[in-house]
Amino acid sequence: MLKIAIIGVGTVGSSVANILRDNKDIICSRAGMQLIPSIGVVNNLNKKRDVSIKLTDDIDLVLEDDSIDIIVELMGGVTQAYEVVKKALTKGKAVVTANKALLAYHRYELQELAGDIPFEFEAAVAGGIPIINALREGLTANHIESMKGIMNGTCNYMLTRMINDGVAYDDILKESQDLGYAEADPSFDVGGFDAAHKLLILASIAYGIDAKPEDILIEGIENITSEDIEFANEFDYCVKLLGIAKKVGKQIELRVNSAFIPNTQMLTKVDGVMNGISVIGDKVGETMYYGAGAGGDATASAVIANIVDIARRGKGSPMLGFKSENLENLILMSKDDIKTKYYLRLRVEDKTGALAKVSSILANHNISIEKMLQKPVNKTCVHLLLSTHTCMEKDINQALKTLEDEIVVTKKPAMIRIED
Ligand code: HSE
Repeated sequence: MLKIAIIGVGTVGSSVANILRDNKDIICSRAGMQLIPSIGVVNNLNKKRDVSIKLTDDIDLVLEDDSIDIIVELMGGVTQAYEVVKKALTKGKAVVTANKALLAYHRYELQELAGDIPFEFEAAVAGGIPIINALREGLTANHIESMKGIMNGTCNYMLTRMINDGVAYDDILKESQDLGYAEADPSFDVGGFDAAHKLLILASIAYGIDAKPEDILIEGIENITSEDIEFANEFDYCVKLLGIAKKVGKQIELRVNSAFIPNTQMLTKVDGVMNGISVIGDKVGETMYYGAGAGGDATASAVIANIVDIARRGKGSPMLGFKSENLENLILMSKDDIKTKYYLRLRVEDKTGALAKVSSILANHNISIEKMLQKPVNKTCVHLLLSTHTCMEKDINQALKTLEDEIVVTKKPAMIRIED
């Protein structure tokens, strides 16, 4: 069993406590032990919070409590968080933090202090995307040639709304604050600093670069106007705030700036609060990571991944999943019961009643046509191209068999599933 204290029970902290409660069975099965969120530390005990864990405002009491195994630092800011993390590590407690500003300034020092004590920070970069894990584990065989990404959900949300809906900068900033995406001080977001903190963490893992925010080029989105967006639309560009790390000879280029990107690039499809990062390794080539970059549950998902990792340490992870008596028994769905939409290509004789025959076969198998096109093939045949509403795999398979045997259908029907 591991006992967890959550320091800072705001949007992310509440989600961590609630997910550990709501998904307890699956998380503890994967961890191989009980994970107990036993206390949360807050500044203001009178503020109403949607959590069921015990709360205190006495941070020292928690740090001194020998029964607490893991400190989850979600208080934000640098100075106090630095003291808390140092004290926790000195006391031998594992630390999980989502605090990118803290890491942007003190990551090497804290790593050294941690030594063999777990010190994890998956949630500090790109919210719910396991990009730290990908860089540390999945891409470990590679020299990283470059990393380019959308790493700030607030800016991406704002730019997307400005581009798609023509909303003014100030209105949209307020909206993203209300949605809980923005930092306590949103100039960290719009000024590019939050993205820079994340970029510095990635650059440490990929290149071992020990730079501070002051050392790199950081520009935000404050100067983007509706004219810039008009120009971008006119010439098929998209405007994004990018964090860029590139190996150039023996140097590493690090910068955060807004940029016009040609609409052909995948990163232009990363919209709203989503983050997307392209990492190019010398052996693997390009890999892409996409997911929610901000928000309570997405960020908590990464925090809890670190907690589970700590629990598993030294025990190895299950290779093909896990088995537990506590879990509902999940079974494989029969292929027949799959439900989706289908596209059918039918070659039929071009004569009276052919279409009626096809539609009645479909209707007899509970299949409803959504859209249809008829295209001539030659003087005697046409193609009927049609999509269906959602129906069952077993029905479509039976309908296809019947259609194949139907005299007006002159060729084996083709089917492609539609995923929308
Ligand atoms: N303010 C940050 C963002 C939160 O908008 O991406 C997640 O780090």
